[in-house]
Amino acid sequence: PPYRVGVIVGSLSRESINRRLAEALKRVAPPEFEFFEISYADLPIYNRDADADYPQVALDFKDAVRSADALLFVTPEYNRSIPGALKNAIDWGSRPYGDNAWSDKPTAVIGASSGQIGTAVGQQSLRGTLSYLNTRQMTAPEAYIHFTPGLIEADGTVTVSSTEDFLRTFMRQFLDYTARVLTVIPQD
Ligand code: FNR
Repeated sequence: PPYRVGVIVGSLSRESINRRLAEALKRVAPPEFEFFEISYADLPIYNRDADADYPQVALDFKDAVRSADALLFVTPEYNRSIPGALKNAIDWGSRPYGDNAWSDKPTAVIGASSGQIGTAVGQQSLRGTLSYLNTRQMTAPEAYIHFTPGLIEADGTVTVSSTEDFLRTFMRQFLDYTARVLTVIPQD
């Protein structure tokens, strides 16, 4: 497939509903996309004292980000923002100053919550950070998934057909968006 998408799941939980959502998105995605997960669970807490001598785990993380044609963030909302572990990973990817791995990457943001407003506030927080870091963001469609029990099974099967259709459209739009961005901004 022409485009490799790095998937960044904002939850480290074994039971994560956002991981289920990520699995569902892979299942309904167009065949032009292939996926790999960008893991950040082993990163230490960022400290700028490390800028002069980045740990290997952080160099590997940045290489994974850079190797992606596009990035898909699938994240919960924590206390009306994004989880700290995800923010930590984003910070590692952004430094040292002048060596920002996120720059010019086509990005999409989506999330699931047990709450009614389905990560809307957390996504806005993430979007602000992704703007500052000079990513190319798909701004529409937006996708706020209110997760009810059984909506998505552990293997990513979506049990409500209108939701499955919506997710399929979201990924179709992300493909179109990615193709357009990469036409204008060739990646290195
Ligand atoms: C939450 N949750 C939550 N939900 C929400 O809609 N808005 C919020 O601000 C928060 N805040 C929050 C903070 C913390 C520390 C936790 C653990 C949870 C509930 C959250 O949506 C729910 O736990 C999801 O299941 C988390 O996603 P994962 O981990 O299942 O992918």
